[in-house]
Amino acid sequence: MRLVLLGAPGSGKGTQAQRMQARHGVPQVSTGDLLREAVAAGTDLGRAAKIVMDAGQLVADNIMLGIIRERLARPDAARGFILDGFPRTIVQADGLGALLADLGTPIDAVVLMEIDPEVLQKRLAGRRSCRRCGRVFHIETNPPKPGERCTDGKLHDLFQRPDDNEETVRERLSVYCERTQPLIDYYARKGLLRRIDAAGTLDEVNSRLEAVLASLTSAH
Ligand code: AP5
Repeated sequence: MRLVLLGAPGSGKGTQAQRMQARHGVPQVSTGDLLREAVAAGTDLGRAAKIVMDAGQLVADNIMLGIIRERLARPDAARGFILDGFPRTIVQADGLGALLADLGTPIDAVVLMEIDPEVLQKRLAGRRSCRRCGRVFHIETNPPKPGERCTDGKLHDLFQRPDDNEETVRERLSVYCERTQPLIDYYARKGLLRRIDAAGTLDEVNSRLEAVLASLTSAH
């Protein structure tokens, strides 16, 4: 399975990618997570990326393509991957296409997670992530279960992302419309685009995604 999840900030890409990773055994490749790891490690890339991310802007295409090339070369991506947050520009999509063509492993589908922008602000305002295991929660719609433990046996250590404040979210949405939405036509023209309604409960959205996967498998 080689899938791209496309959608606005807060549409649920990360949440659904984590579920599919657990169910199908292919890794979630989140460029946002990879950048946040670099920020936490205090590398040169991390320091430069933090300024861009905190402003709600996009990190340069050549840097992102380098990160993806390196990530997809790791052994766990050989059986497939779920790209979450990449590509985000036409240049990134062209670069990804060229990389996968070289490897002979094209994308199976690009799933667009469609949702009303008003819902996104609420989702992002209530989002919390675990500092240790990276799991994504929501204080109202998807809190950790009482007493639920992290992978290391301790309670989840939740934090709020610095770019989830109202002003930065507004900027991220505007960057999405300007730089990422053109990918909808780009992938539709290639016959790869599938659309799902990303509103509703986590389980409902997950079922729609699984239905798309099932349709791909039956088409092969
Ligand atoms: P990134 O981390 O990729 O952020 P994003 O694309 O803005 O997406 P989010 O992570 O905000 O949202 P999501 O769709 O994953 O939603 P989630 O599942 O968490 O990127 C961050 C920054 O890094 C960028 O701004 C940029 O600077 C840089 N960057 C990253 N990739 C880059 C690239 N390729 N090129 C250049 N720069 C790049 O859900 C959100 C909340 O809603 C959660 O709390 C969740 O629990 C809840 N929720 C989810 N689904 C539901 C549901 N069905 N019902 C109720 N609640 C739900």
